[in-house]
Parts: sequence; C-alpha cells; structure tokens
Amino acid sequence: MNKKIKIIFVVGARPNFIKIAPLLKEIKNYSHIKSILVHTGQHYDDKMSAVFFKDLNIKKPDYNLNIGGGSHGFQTGNIMIAFEKICLKEKPNLIVVVGDVNSTLACALVAVKLCIKIAHIEAGLRSFDKSMPEEINRILTDQISDYLFITEESAKNNLLKEGISSKKIFFTGNVMIDTLFNQIKSKNNNIKILQKLGIIKKQYSILTLHRPSNVDNKETLKTMLSVLNNIQQHIKIVWPIHPRAKNNINKFKLQYMFNKMKNIIIIEPLGYSEMAILVNNSKFVMTDSGGLQEETTALGIPCLTLRENTERPITIIQGTNILVGSNKNKIIKTVMEIINTKKKKNVFKKPKYWDGKTAKRIIAILNKVTL
Ligand code: UD1
Repeated sequence: MNKKIKIIFVVGARPNFIKIAPLLKEIKNYSHIKSILVHTGQHYDDKMSAVFFKDLNIKKPDYNLNIGGGSHGFQTGNIMIAFEKICLKEKPNLIVVVGDVNSTLACALVAVKLCIKIAHIEAGLRSFDKSMPEEINRILTDQISDYLFITEESAKNNLLKEGISSKKIFFTGNVMIDTLFNQIKSKNNNIKILQKLGIIKKQYSILTLHRPSNVDNKETLKTMLSVLNNIQQHIKIVWPIHPRAKNNINKFKLQYMFNKMKNIIIIEPLGYSEMAILVNNSKFVMTDSGGLQEETTALGIPCLTLRENTERPITIIQGTNILVGSNKNKIIKTVMEIINTKKKKNVFKKPKYWDGKTAKRIIAILNKVTL
C-alpha cells in the first residue's frame, strides 16, 4: 500500500490561481495524496481572487493568510511568519509554488528552512532584468527548489547556467494552457461578454497594464495613455483595469486624458472565463503581463508586449508575440500593420507540450518523487 503523502499548494496572486487549478484537479486521481490549499491573500478583491475560484472550480482554501497589499518587505515577511505556522502544524512532505510573485518566494523560503521539499512550477524563466520584482522571485525560488518544472526549453539553459543540476529539471509544458483550453472548450463559457460590451468579434483589441515599470512612473504612464489615444482612433480598446494602474491614474491626476478617448472601454478586472473569451475573439492584445503573452501564442492571437524584454522567448521565436516596449512609434506602426493585414499569417507554431496535459505530467512526477 502507498504511504500517505501531504502536499501544500500555495496561491497568492491572480496568475497563481490559473496555474494551480488543473494541478488540484489532477491530484484528485491520487487517493493517497492529501492536498492542502493555502491562499496568502496577496490578492484579496473579489475581482482579483474570488471570481477565479468560482470560474476555475478551485476548492475553498484550507488556510487564508489574509496578508493583503503592502510593500514587498511587508508582504514577504508577513507571509513567511504566517506560512511557517502552517508548515509546522501540517508537516507536509512537499510544497508546490507556482510562478514568480512575492507569495511564491516567501513560501519557498519558509519551506527550505524547515527542510521541506519544494516543487516550483514555471521555473527557469528569466528576463535578465533585476529591476523587475518577479525576476528576483524567480532566481531565488529556483535556487532553493528541489523539483523545477519548466514551460519551455530556454528555461533549462538558464537553470543550468545558474548551477542547478539537470536532474532537478523537468520539461512538462505549460500548465496555464491546460486551464485556457479547458475554458475555451467549456460549454459554460460566456460569449455574452461581447454583447454586454457592445463589441464585435475581431473588431476590438484588449489592453492590460500593471507592471510597476509602466504604471508607477507618471511620465511613462502619460506616454502610455497618449499612445492609447492614438490607437483608439483606429480600433476599439477594451481595458480591464488592474488596481495598480487605476490607483496610479487617480494619484497622478491623469483622468483628464480619457476625455477625448471615445473608443476605449474601461472595465473592472474580469474573471477568467470572460477574459479568455474576449482574448480569443480579439483582433490583437496589448499587454505587459507574462501570462497573456503565452495565452495569445497558444490561441494564435497577435500580442504586442509593452515591455523591453520578455522571460518567455518561445512566444516570440515560435509564437505571436512582438516586443514593442514603450516606444510610441513602434507600438503604433505594429498596430497599424495588424489592423491592415486582412488574412492572418499562419506562421506561428504552438510550443512543445502546450497541449492541455501538463498537469497530468507534473502530478505523475510528483507522485513518483514523493513515494
Ligand atoms: C502582483 C505580482 C505580479 C503579477 C500581478 C498580477 C509580485 C511582486 N507581483 O503584482 O507578478 O503579475 O500580481 O496581478 O508579486 N490590489 C488591490 N486589490 C487586490 C490586489 C491588489 O487593490 O486584490 C492593490 C494593492 O493594494 C496594491 C496594488 O494593487 O496597491 C498592487 O498589488 P500587489 O499584490 O502589490 O502587486 P501587483 O501589482 O498586483
């Protein structure tokens, strides 16, 4: 008979929920493994958190640390204090952390100091830009993890260069794409969102913007808004606005810049299924998110990444991603090319193992290594 295994799964911020959902579903097939879900509460608004639990059918967290917003030190420190208590009480065999948010690193640090094994899902991605808080979280989490699951081959080289043994690295594909494909083919998915917003398939673009490098500096944010003013004269823009961007527009008193923009629809953050439908039916996406670069590549939707670099090079080499940074001319030129191209050039190729079966591969490996 198999021994009983206990695994703690950690989530904290919006992109984590999308990655954890298929893993929790798959682990139900392993009756000797008990899964415990810990939500750090880094994201706490219903629209940033609860709606994902509902849309993605994620079980209610066994623990919610209710950390909330705050500086990096505040978030990381408070998560560590609270998570350590849970680890001491539950004594798990393994913890699973995903992605690159503050909750990922904080919980991994607690586990390594208690000699608890760590699996990191989405390991090895590197932007080589240490001014990004996520880059620090990635490097440090990978250094202390025991099992590193990678989404693309470039990640393996990055990890090997940082001295991580190839024995710890598993190329299993992209678990977020499992969730995406499940939603796109789900009968419950809600095409009504297009009617609700008064938009027509392929006649609108989507924008998301939340990186500190784009929204925390007044001049950069102003440039971004002036680019949007130009683009919305050619195509409708739907912008589900992140709290960080919204707060900063108010703080810098930039609301007036929207007065002339008649073709931009600003809405609250969307749940996962509505967002997936909107993206899948859009002409193109403009974003500084990591996840959307991958989702657009999996769906074959053009993506303009409003950053100077990406930690996900496969989306450029094989996928639909174009790095445009915050260069006004480059953004507008790329947008016009996409708008004026009648037929989609079918040159992109779906990356290896982005096939909707990544959770199966990951959990099978975790089962083996914890036996
Ligand atoms: C975090 C992650 C980022 C990820 C993003 C997805 C880190 C370092 N950053 O950035 O990698 O791409 O989540 O959204 O972990 N806020 C709310 N309601 C919420 C959540 C946040 O109002 O539910 C506010 C916070 O109070 C804060 C701001 O939004 O003022 C930023 O939140 P924070 O968790 O610090 O980082 P994000 O920018 O969301």
